[in-house]
Amino acid sequence: MCGIIGAIARNPVQNTLLHALKTMEYRGYDSAGICTVSQQQLHTQKAKGKLINLETLLEKEPLEGNLGIGHTRWATHGVPEVRNAHPHQTESIAVVHNGIIENHQRLREMLQASGATFASDTDSETIPWLWQQVLEGETNQEKAFLDTLNQLEGAFAIAGIRNNEQKLWFARRGSPLLLARSPDGVFVASDALAVGAVATEVYYLKEGQWGWSDLEHVHIFDAQGKKAEVMWEAMPEMVAATEKDPYKHYMLKEIHEQPRVFLDILHAYTDGSPHIHFPQATFIETAPLPSRIIMVACGTSYHTALTARYWLERYLKIPVEVDVASEFRYRDPVIAENTWMITLSQSGETADTLEALRLFKRQTPNNKSLVFCNVAHSSMVRESDGLIELYAGPEIGVASTKAYTAQLLTLALFSLKLAHQYNAMDDESVMQHIQALFAAADGAKALLEKPKTFDALTPLFSQAHGSLFLGRGPCYPLALEGALKLKEISYLHAEGYPAGEMKHGPIALIDENLPVIVIALRQYHLDKVISNLHEVQARGAKIILVTDMQKNEIPENINATIHIPEGDFFSAPLLAAIPLQYLAYNVACDKGTDVDQPRNLAKSVTVE
Ligand code: M6R
Repeated sequence: MCGIIGAIARNPVQNTLLHALKTMEYRGYDSAGICTVSQQQLHTQKAKGKLINLETLLEKEPLEGNLGIGHTRWATHGVPEVRNAHPHQTESIAVVHNGIIENHQRLREMLQASGATFASDTDSETIPWLWQQVLEGETNQEKAFLDTLNQLEGAFAIAGIRNNEQKLWFARRGSPLLLARSPDGVFVASDALAVGAVATEVYYLKEGQWGWSDLEHVHIFDAQGKKAEVMWEAMPEMVAATEKDPYKHYMLKEIHEQPRVFLDILHAYTDGSPHIHFPQATFIETAPLPSRIIMVACGTSYHTALTARYWLERYLKIPVEVDVASEFRYRDPVIAENTWMITLSQSGETADTLEALRLFKRQTPNNKSLVFCNVAHSSMVRESDGLIELYAGPEIGVASTKAYTAQLLTLALFSLKLAHQYNAMDDESVMQHIQALFAAADGAKALLEKPKTFDALTPLFSQAHGSLFLGRGPCYPLALEGALKLKEISYLHAEGYPAGEMKHGPIALIDENLPVIVIALRQYHLDKVISNLHEVQARGAKIILVTDMQKNEIPENINATIHIPEGDFFSAPLLAAIPLQYLAYNVACDKGTDVDQPRNLAKSVTVE
């Protein structure tokens, strides 16, 4: 949801900024811009649409200067047009912003009354004008910056520059931001990927921290203005992981990485015994069984929580509540003592999920919180009592694939651990289930070695006006996920439904141009799902069956069948997820959509 970068270096920064924006384009791709300082002047280039448009512009008219900021945008206030692209600026100050300034309307009126002339429709443009106004009445620059920040309401990560100095200013409140450095310069960025190629050390700014840097020193302060210390860490190795070659799209690469991710996770958390260890969530080892678990997430991560509920409730016999974060945080949830909050997030920065976690902690500070997350330094990780890391590696495609199955697998291990710890499952059963999870890694590999198997499905969507995904038990959230994947990258309407609920309404939609994807696995009410299949088939639907049944058991007249290896109660959804991802990918390619950066979306939704 917008990527920001700032750099002060010994050499010109244009290409560093541009490269950083490329690595963060997944965060937003409505427009992009760069501003540098040279000869005491601000120089700006902005372009609407993908970053390539800005790149073309900069080839013709490059920007000089060893100090600069850049931005790739996902629009919140103001349509995607050049005038709304960042950096926003006055004559002397330029700012890039990620987040939302909630009091922007009031600020705009106040600033306009004292002479500010706004060029955009954005909330962000209030920041440089406000900063300039504060500086006119305050000679202490640090105080002026803090006063400016204190007048902003809402969430932000900011980088800013001024025409008459070689200083890079920055602030973090509610949106992620990190500092990075090398002997060549100092950088601020929304994501470590952006600076992995140029920096050797990194520091993740804490909530409320702000400061400035020249080439020699970095100065940071807390929200009250007290000096704080920068604790540099080595920059993790990540550049190679972000190349997509030889795959055509990041999404395809990430689908194919899943068997390796499964093994990484299994080796990280199991040791050949029935004892599963989560080294960053040690409170689990000694905690009494909670009375309730609340799981909160958005999008795909929400779907994994829905699957885990079936696993946890069956063995723990405690209520497991699952909610979409944007609903949970505004519904005055009732949270009793001895409740665990589990948040799930690929990025660890999703605004609604993070706020749900904060609400939980405010309401019941004694309760424990645990996050399943792919980004070890993210805000959710820092604010939770425990972390179960997904080990999926950077996920660049906007449609989540490997992070989804990594969440499923870690949740399966978590369910097994709790079942074992609270005596609901003996050693032998835990071992069998772990072996089944290892077998699923092999099964996933085998499925992905024959990608042509999935090609037969695509023609069924050439005339489709929508599609329906049906499943029962853990296959119901899989149906939701299959539908989400298809709609977000192919723009074809798709709905996931509990197979047994379909006759209470959606069955009216059935015709020959509404392909129905039925997920029918032995583990989850197979006979009942097959009955539901017959109900839609009798009404003329074209059926795609994803199943682990034997060939001779398959009902007649199915339009296409994808056979997957048979899994157990925990591993089966991991295998069924793969054909659904491939189906979405193939249909999107057939329709010629932008698979990795589908319209209107962004990878990391850091505004509510
Ligand atoms: O980073 P998170 O897991 O918190 O993100 C949540 C959703 O925004 C995300 O899963 C979204 O639904 C994806 N585009 C799905 O492919």
